[in-house]
Amino acid sequence: MSPTPVLGMKSVYVLNGPNLNLLGTREPATYGTVTLADIEARLKARCAKEGLTLDFRQTNVEGELVTWLQDAGKAGAPVILNAGAYTHTSIAIHDAIRGAGVKVIEVHLSNVHAREDFRHHSMISAVAAGVILGFGALSYDLALDALIAQSKNKS
Ligand code: DQA
Repeated sequence: MSPTPVLGMKSVYVLNGPNLNLLGTREPATYGTVTLADIEARLKARCAKEGLTLDFRQTNVEGELVTWLQDAGKAGAPVILNAGAYTHTSIAIHDAIRGAGVKVIEVHLSNVHAREDFRHHSMISAVAAGVILGFGALSYDLALDALIAQSKNKS
């Protein structure tokens, strides 16, 4: 039997910024040992059960994130966004979220507020629907939970 689609939401974008391709070996004490491919596989399985298409991407290039946010806006799809270090610096990503009118849940594996001062400010939080951080790879799952719950509540 094919899954019942989550009403009002057909696809979800998960966009990952710089250095997240290194997950698994990158500073495991901070980010854990789960790879980005592991996260993608888990979310893909969960989305399939909900009848959702998952568009999962990673880039080390700031402008690419801007273009993908615009794509998500055009597609009317919500975005789970871990912009990595661009979180703390990128006016371009802030503007893209605003300009594209795209719904974004900001996620981080680590609790950035318990880390260096330069990680305490986010350019994204002010234009995000919500922020989930500090739960390791589970942060992505919690963001997906939130999108699904909100979408089901609306329908
Ligand atoms: C991160 C936190 C950022 O400060 C850092 O630059 C990253 C990963 C996280 O998921 O915890 O690249 O976004």
